[in-house]
Amino acid sequence: MTELLLLIGAYLIGSFATAVWVSKGVFGMDIREHGSGNAGATNTFRVLGPKAGTFVMVVDMLKGVLAVRLSYLLPIYNEPDQITQLVNLQVGLGLAAVVGHIFPIWAGFRGGKGIATLFGMVLAIQPLVALCCVGVFLMILFLTRYVSLSSIIASIAFPVLILFIFREKEVFYRIFAIAVALMVVLTHQKNIARLLTGSESKVPLFKNRKN
Ligand code: G3P
Repeated sequence: MTELLLLIGAYLIGSFATAVWVSKGVFGMDIREHGSGNAGATNTFRVLGPKAGTFVMVVDMLKGVLAVRLSYLLPIYNEPDQITQLVNLQVGLGLAAVVGHIFPIWAGFRGGKGIATLFGMVLAIQPLVALCCVGVFLMILFLTRYVSLSSIIASIAFPVLILFIFREKEVFYRIFAIAVALMVVLTHQKNIARLLTGSESKVPLFKNRKN
């Protein structure tokens, strides 16, 4: 029962619609009507600039961290012999926050694509895996300048790292890692269509590059 309440709490934290509220509250517009239409950090960067984008990215990431940290409210899970249960609970809480971010109850269930919150969640559970995923993300971004493609490939790298490099033993965590990569592919369907037609927008990493 307490676990269920924590999961609901994690979903409500994830539902904190940062990009929507910043765009409406500070800029008097709805980010979902501009740019890619995504209520996330990338589109906020694109439409409202680096300050707003950075703010949204940090807060969305902290939602994932905070959701995982809710597990510490149940001291029973913090005993050494409860590590499996603790990891499972943390994964469940993080997942609830990511679902909240994608389908926020506070913003008409139209949220973002879950990347920053997912990153925050993995950072809170397994920082080294999160850093490896960031490395993959930055490498793809540097090579292609597509944030969406970088997000997709970094998310696919997540289960690959979990299963084959870090050899995670917790079954639930392994299933989650695969499921989350599939979920990211699903939330990026429009981006994939644009990538295939060559109409996806690129990040201007270098000022003197033309496209
Ligand atoms: O994190 C979302 C990113 O991968 C794509 O965002 O706005 O280009 O659809 P956007």
